Amino acid sequence: MAEQILKEARNAAIHAYAPYSKFRVGAAVLAGHSLFHGCNVENASLGLTMCAERVAIFSAIAAGHRKIEAIGVSCIDVPPGTASAFRMPCGACRQVMREFGGTDVIVYVDGVGEFTLCELIPEAFTLEHPEHAKQIR
Ligand code: THU
Repeated sequence: MAEQILKEARNAAIHAYAPYSKFRVGAAVLAGHSLFHGCNVENASLGLTMCAERVAIFSAIAAGHRKIEAIGVSCIDVPPGTASAFRMPCGACRQVMREFGGTDVIVYVDGVGEFTLCELIPEAFTLEHPEHAKQIR
């Protein structure tokens, strides 16, 4: 699973639109039996930039899924030996992952390792809406 989903994430990063940061990120999300891809999409206003992970998750949601089973993330421009923090999903993406993924969902981070959502975002904010709980548990 790790190698396959990370390969998909690396391929997705090729499509990144990152002219400002030159920092390309790719993500792959497993939902149902389908894979959804995402890359970061930057904007001249900077604040409108969207991360690769959220693009991939929103793509799965737009296809009708409500539960994600695994996520792979790859920051392909980070040189080997760089601190692992350069490769980790940002806080906003972690919160969005938790919206659609249970605490045991595995996040594969290229060049770093595997984490459960519980490890990445402990004590996550939730409104515990019954519909929400039904979808992700
Ligand atoms: N980026 C992601 O795509 N995912 C993250 O989790 C962190 C950051 C992107 C946003 C921006 O285009 C570039 O990486 C540098 O911050």
